[in-house]
Amino acid sequence: MLWPNWGPGSERERWETAVTMRSLFSDQSRYMESFRLFLENSTEHQCMLEFIERKLSGVLSSIGNEKSTINVLSVGGGSGEIDLQILGKLKANHPGVAICNDVIEPNAEQVLSYKERVAKTSNLENIKFTWHTETSSEFESRMNTRNEIKKWDFIHMVQVLYYVSDVPATIRFFNSLLEPGAKLLIILVSGTSDWDRLWKKYGARLPCELCSYFSSANIEEILDGSGLKYHSYELPSEIEITDCFTEGNKKGELLLDFLTETCNFNETAPLDLKNEIVEDLKLYSDKRDGRYFFNNNLGAIVIES
Ligand SMILES: C[S@@+](CC[C@H](N)C(=O)[O-])C[C@H]1O[C@@H](n2cnc3c(N)ncnc32)[C@H](O)[C@@H]1O
Repeated sequence: MLWPNWGPGSERERWETAVTMRSLFSDQSRYMESFRLFLENSTEHQCMLEFIERKLSGVLSSIGNEKSTINVLSVGGGSGEIDLQILGKLKANHPGVAICNDVIEPNAEQVLSYKERVAKTSNLENIKFTWHTETSSEFESRMNTRNEIKKWDFIHMVQVLYYVSDVPATIRFFNSLLEPGAKLLIILVSGTSDWDRLWKKYGARLPCELCSYFSSANIEEILDGSGLKYHSYELPSEIEITDCFTEGNKKGELLLDFLTETCNFNETAPLDLKNEIVEDLKLYSDKRDGRYFFNNNLGAIVIES
């Protein structure tokens, strides 16, 4: 009997992927652990803070003028670290004005961390928080069912559009919730990042059924066809992934899970796929003093109402 030649990306590999690999989202605690490690090992939040300070501040000063309350909507607010920075900047730009901040976040663990962060942060007076523990599409359905018409002065979706099922429809929906003169901010990995290279090459062989491999370049393509006006910004960033190349290193394994959005990638990926990805991660990385840095550049897009 002739035995099939199971090459990379072959039927054998797809079968193994289906039975063994599962999305990182299937284990929320492991997702949180690897996301926290990613934040520690990357300049992800630093580059966002710099963007908020240098560019977003001007955008925030232009919204909600002459209003007694400014309404903000955070989609996928996570544990609120970036949200509170945005709110701080908004408050500084509009002293004494009340702010209502709605947060859509489906992960109950993240909502709890967000609430704890708010409880221990000073200078949040004048800001009212409302959390909605649901996905953006559940929020949309709830608004539609109740026929609620509420509009916001600033809506942001920071590193979240990968996880919605229909990206163009989600942008259209949240854009329709903007007040006149309001802005919608989207941040995703940039088309110049190593993420984009990794996803283009391996996305079809990874099990992330809950995520789409979108970069800010893909969002620009959607917007160019929609007639919406927008400005784009490139946010340089990197992740140190040196630990991924030491066999048995627990941090390296968690980072590999985050990079591939796969739960226990090291133990469950077919050997061919594992070897190829690890080799490519080395190849893509910038090497400095024996350490490996993966390009994590982000793209920020500000859409006008
Ligand atoms: C990568 S984290 C980003 C968190 C935060 N915005 C930040 O930049 O630190 C993505 C967040 O989106 C949330 N999320 C996942 N799917 C979502 C959906 N369909 N609608 C809204 N939020 C979602 C996750 O629970 C997670 O907290």
